[in-house]
Amino acid sequence: MIAVTTTLAESAEECKKAGEISRTLNLPLCPRNNTGIGKLIEKHSLKGIVIVSREKITYSYPGGEFFFHPGMAKLRINEILNGKTDQMIKALDLIPGCTVLDCTLGLGSDAIVTSFANSAGKVIGIERSPVLSLIVREGLASYSGGISQGLKGAMRRIKVICDDYNHFLKNQPDQSVDIVYFDPMFRIPGHKSSAIDAMRPLTDKSPLSPEAIEEALRVARRRVVVKELRNGPELTRLGFNRITGGKYSPVAYGVVEKGGGRYKPLL
Ligand SMILES: C[S@@+](CC[C@H](N)C(=O)[O-])C[C@H]1O[C@@H](n2cnc3c(N)ncnc32)[C@H](O)[C@@H]1O
Repeated sequence: MIAVTTTLAESAEECKKAGEISRTLNLPLCPRNNTGIGKLIEKHSLKGIVIVSREKITYSYPGGEFFFHPGMAKLRINEILNGKTDQMIKALDLIPGCTVLDCTLGLGSDAIVTSFANSAGKVIGIERSPVLSLIVREGLASYSGGISQGLKGAMRRIKVICDDYNHFLKNQPDQSVDIVYFDPMFRIPGHKSSAIDAMRPLTDKSPLSPEAIEEALRVARRRVVVKELRNGPELTRLGFNRITGGKYSPVAYGVVEKGGGRYKPLL
């Protein structure tokens, strides 16, 4: 079980916010009572605990903690500003004012970079984990520590929806967004990312199905893009024959264009 608590300082504002979050997430509120987080987790046999402070929301669990930080996106945006090609942006092939549906929001890094490169358009991020989507939604809406106006604007424009993308896609009309993007948890462990590792306990690790790609192709006007390890098995299993990405990058992007013939998974 997961519970919600405050910081040791427990201001009235924090207690109110923690109460609201416990009701929104339908998780028990655990009074802090000057107790250490490890002790609270042990005492109530918790899987982890959501700590609500004035500035941010943290998920703490035995062995780690997760909170929103735009660090990775900031680095990538700086590289774009320095004239480097971002391989994900290249694979998405954005056009001004387009709508991108990021079906696997996670920490929000890819969505932030997309939103930055798509300032006249829209980015919608779907995340299945209620705790993760809450932390990232709050972070995107309020984080402001030493970041540029451009990055802040990109973060604030992202719309976060907590849902299973399979369910969400089924309920969308045909051709209602331009691009659908997936970055599922990699099937082969070993791709080192401390940010992804920290949020791992909250994530859904189910593989992407050919049916989800068919649905995404119905919903997309232009293309569906899937990120995977360069030598990972997923893009082949899912039938992508157009794969792009940097020559030396550990990741690659599978692209299916709308109208490029029927999508045929190789199962
Ligand atoms: C590898 S992470 C995405 C990282 C993200 N692209 C970023 O830049 O931070 C994959 C995320 O997709 C989420 N996810 C997996 N299956 C999902 C589903 N069926 N519906 C919605 N979200 C899902 C996981 O919980 C996880 O947070």
